[in-house]
Amino acid sequence: MSALSIKNLWKEYGDQIVLENVSIEIESRAFVALVGPSGCGKSTFLRLLLGQERQTKGEILLDGLALPKEPGPDRGVVFQRYSVFPHLTVLGNVMLGKELKASRVAARLFGAVKRAVEDEARAMIAAVGLAGSEDKYPAQLSGGMQQRLALAQALIMRPKVLLLDEPFGALDPGIRAEIHTLMKKLWHEAPMTVVMVTHDMREAFTLATRVVAFERPRDRPEEKLRYGATITRDIAIWPTRKAGEASLFRPDRDGPVSSQGQ
Ligand SMILES: Nc1ncnc2c1ncn2[C@@H]1O[C@H](COP(=O)(O)OP(=O)(O)O)[C@@H](O)[C@H]1O
Ligand SMILES: [Mg+2]
Repeated sequence: MSALSIKNLWKEYGDQIVLENVSIEIESRAFVALVGPSGCGKSTFLRLLLGQERQTKGEILLDGLALPKEPGPDRGVVFQRYSVFPHLTVLGNVMLGKELKASRVAARLFGAVKRAVEDEARAMIAAVGLAGSEDKYPAQLSGGMQQRLALAQALIMRPKVLLLDEPFGALDPGIRAEIHTLMKKLWHEAPMTVVMVTHDMREAFTLATRVVAFERPRDRPEEKLRYGATITRDIAIWPTRKAGEASLFRPDRDGPVSSQGQ
């Protein structure tokens, strides 16, 4: 079964058509990179997948079921900036999602449950390379570390779908390369499907299993509001990259941790 099934999706804001008849099947465990000119509706598309916005027309199914009306723990998100809470420590940020989920039942986490969540949060913080920074605040972290924190915060909820909106766009090239390695490792290890918006083609080809381009097919300025963007290209990466499996040509750099000898 496909993880995400998007059928004839339209999104309009008032008179402006942003997305026009977008249909795509995204298989479970895919890593889709979404590219396209600025303003063509990529972030809007992610917000629809997240459940932060409702489509004007069309259908979004997650594992065969219509998306719930609100964002839920099955979908995690990381933005280019400001995904984390500045007033909470690294540990507090990573624990928060679990605490909020628990607080629907009990007011807060207690005793053994709280310790288990804390242990899990510490393990996740270590997994993204932030061990030792548990008590720091986001403002005390570099941009790259903040994005690692945002990933940990999303991943601790074990989302089925991870949505990334230009998450590494503001990072320096060296830091970016490091976080790409981490991102690949996380995708290989966690049972999730990833949809990532990027303006960097190199990044798209480094990480994705599939690169999808959004464009307005009829881009005349005077008609800008009348036609939305849709999928104009859908490229499968070669050689095939598969979650949990070492790549044919670069097993050292592209594969699950076990094959990286770590
Ligand atoms: N909440 C909103 N209300 C009205 N228009 C919006 C809203 N969000 C986005 N838009 C418009 O939708 C278009 C696509 O925006 P966006 O999805 O942010 O593009 P991208 O992420 O591809 O740069 C833009 O023209 C933007 O002005
Ligand atoms: Mg955007």
